[in-house]
Parts: sequence; C-alpha cells; structure tokens
Amino acid sequence: MDWSREICADLTIRLVDISDIHPGYLQALNDPDRIKYMHIGVRPKETEESLSRYVARSRDNPAEYLFGLFNKNELIATSRTHDIDQRAGKAHIGVLVFSNEHEGKGYATQLVQAVCDFLKDNLNISKISAGIMADNIASKRCFEKAGFHFHSIHPDYSDFICEIWVKS
Ligand SMILES: CC(C)(COP(=O)(O)OP(=O)(O)OC[C@H]1O[C@@H](n2cnc3c(N)ncnc32)[C@H](O)[C@@H]1OP(=O)(O)O)[C@@H](O)C(=O)NCCC(=O)NCCS
Repeated sequence: MDWSREICADLTIRLVDISDIHPGYLQALNDPDRIKYMHIGVRPKETEESLSRYVARSRDNPAEYLFGLFNKNELIATSRTHDIDQRAGKAHIGVLVFSNEHEGKGYATQLVQAVCDFLKDNLNISKISAGIMADNIASKRCFEKAGFHFHSIHPDYSDFICEIWVKS
C-alpha cells in the first residue's frame, strides 16, 4: 500500500516502515511526560527491537495502519488507526508528536485529517473515534480542528476521565 499525501515541499504523510525508526521516536515513547495521556498502567521500556516488532505488526494486520508525518524524510509524528471494522464502517485513531519542537504547528491536526480521509476514501469508514483523557487539552483541540466532537465518557475507567470523541 503506497498511499501518501504531500502537505508541502518538506512535509509528507505515509505509512511508517521499520527503516523509519530513529532515536527520537524511541525517546518519545520512553518519555513519561510525553506518553502520560496515551498509556494505561506501567509499560516496559520500548527498545529498537520491540518498536520494530510493533511497526511490523502494524504492516501485517489488516485492521490497523501506522501513518507517519515526515519532515524532509525524518519521522516526526505518528497516527495509528486500529480496530478497523469495515463491515460496521468504524475505526479508532490516536496521534503522537515526538517533540515539543514540532508542537503547536498544526502537524497533529493535519496528520489526523489525512488518516481520516484515507479511512473514508479507501476503506469506506464513516465513524472514527478517539479516546482522549479529559485534561489533554491540546489533543482535544487537535481533534476538534480535525472535525471530531465530544461523544461520551468512556465507561471502562474510574481512576481518570477518558472522553470518547467521534467524527462521523
Ligand atoms: C496532543 C498532540 C498530538 C498535539 O499535537 P500538535 O501538533 O501540537 O497539535 P496541533 O498543533 O495540530 O493542535 C494543537 C492545538 O491545541 C492548542 N493547545 C495546545 N496546548 C494547549 C493548552 N494548554 N490550552 C489550550 N490550547 C492548547 C494549540 O494552540 C492548538 O490549537 P490552535 O491551532 O487553535 O492554536 C501532541 O501534543 C502530543 O503528541 N502529545 C503527546 C501524546 C498525546 O497526548 N496524544 C494524544 C492522545 S489522544
């Protein structure tokens, strides 16, 4: 699958490959502050091997895709869409910008929008949802700009508030 979108001369969105993994990607995944809104519970340290397996799995699994935003060929953000159910026309999505150097420039919004367009145009997915921690203001704003709206509170968690945002 060689879908890609050029945002401008330097910025491109395409699927992530194992060869795109670099220390900055690993560093982001191992930075407690960066992933505090993304993972539930304690996670083992991500290594080059575990990250390679994760990227490989995303390429093998027909129910998920791992897209990346590339700045002059360097991967600077990812958006994973998963639990794709073509029969029901549904999918989930998440997003991660690796460093604060690249935040606040609309990159996450562009990436989420592109992945939503991909899901709609290629897989006929019409309902896309994201789980967002209630205090993750930047993420809520990003998804709002990408056309999502608040839907409900996730019923499965009691230690924190996780909101479900949808685009349909
Ligand atoms: C959340 C995240 C993806 C946003 O990435 P980004 O590239 O900065 O997002 P964008 O620039 O597209 O949009 C962010 C918006 O939030 C706004 N924002 C950021 N922090 C804010 C704050 N504390 N209060 C109010 N608005 C805030 C920005 O100003 C921007 O809105 P604007 O364009 O109207 O000014 C990024 O911070 C990240 O990767 N965080 C860690 C992982 C994570 O939380 N992922 C989401 C899991 S659901």
